Amino acid sequence: MDTRTLGTIGPAVSRLGLGLMGMSDLYGAADEAESIATIHAALDAGLNLLDTGDFYGMGHNEMLLRDALRGRNRDNAVISVKFGALRDAEGGWNGTDLRPAAIKNFLAYTLRRLGTDHVDIYRPARMSSDVPVEDVVGTLADLVTAGHVRHIGLSEVGAETLRRAHAVHPIADLQIEYSLISRGIETEILPVARELGVGVTAYGVLSRGLISGHWTAGRGTGPTDFRTHLPRFTGENLERNLALVDALRKVAEAKGVTVAQIAIAWVLSRGEDIVPLIGARRRDRLAEALGALEVGLGADDLAAIEAAVPAGAAAGSRYDEAQMAHLDSERA
Ligand SMILES: NC(=O)c1ccc[n+]([C@@H]2O[C@H](COP(=O)([O-])OP(=O)(O)OC[C@H]3O[C@@H](n4cnc5c(N)ncnc54)[C@H](OP(=O)(O)O)[C@@H]3O)[C@@H](O)[C@H]2O)c1
Repeated sequence: MDTRTLGTIGPAVSRLGLGLMGMSDLYGAADEAESIATIHAALDAGLNLLDTGDFYGMGHNEMLLRDALRGRNRDNAVISVKFGALRDAEGGWNGTDLRPAAIKNFLAYTLRRLGTDHVDIYRPARMSSDVPVEDVVGTLADLVTAGHVRHIGLSEVGAETLRRAHAVHPIADLQIEYSLISRGIETEILPVARELGVGVTAYGVLSRGLISGHWTAGRGTGPTDFRTHLPRFTGENLERNLALVDALRKVAEAKGVTVAQIAIAWVLSRGEDIVPLIGARRRDRLAEALGALEVGLGADDLAAIEAAVPAGAAAGSRYDEAQMAHLDSERA
């Protein structure tokens, strides 16, 4: 698979990345052997960008990645790690800690769990009102100088925070939700990222499965599935959103591709600086996602896709109210 530089200063990454979150947390039960087989299949297909977080399964996700990389050349992988989220034993969320000592502590545990001496891209999952972004990036810059971190990334920050961060140390990429039904970054955040030469690693490209073509109204979500609490997955919102998927399915079928492939191909079509992070946790899902790389979209296709799913058509916000309040990217 072709690689390109992530942003102006980032590592060389494949056209798609693999996000590992659902292999340990948030989307209900996952099969560990199948998760590792999926990571291997991704690496074998030339996909090198692997995204995790120290709080995904409280370290489980990093140890899974370590196991998957055993016997492989670690330097062929670009490991992206998020930190800062505080959890409890019930799996709950207790805010964000970005104090310098906390960041150094998070990193020390991460390096040990991953069995490596450096993280390729290290990023706070959310900002914290207690520590200015300049101080957070300053701490990360020290870790770059020390050789423990290669590149600094951010997650879900708005344009102003991105500018302030980039003024302290070059930022490789901004990880942020972007899909046919989450286009909020287009007005301000994406233009500023482009102006600064910051790459975008897009998550939620399939809106956590909602616009994958595989989600149905009757599927339901278990108690450990965080989608239970997402406004787009419930009640009337879910019905309206699945109607958008049905419209998209017609466009996909006319092209002889699947809904997931057309949704991923649409994000790919938005620019070479945008790298979709695919949340596959099974090899069949991964294979489907990789098929998106072969889907060429012309002007007519793009018009048909946007007619099926017009910008702003999704019913419900992308997170619940409490979580939306923690998103620097959603501040006016
Ligand atoms: N920075 C942040 O705030 C943030 C937030 C969320 C996620 N992320 C990162 O982004 C990664 C991607 O997660 P996401 O939830 O955004 O992923 P996504 O690709 O939008 O959705 C993943 C879900 O879609 C379903 N799916 C159905 N068909 C698929 C296909 N062909 N390929 C892939 N998935 C398919 C899967 O469910 P089944 O397994 O049931 O099939 C999977 O659980 C995460 O792993 C994480 O690394 C970052």
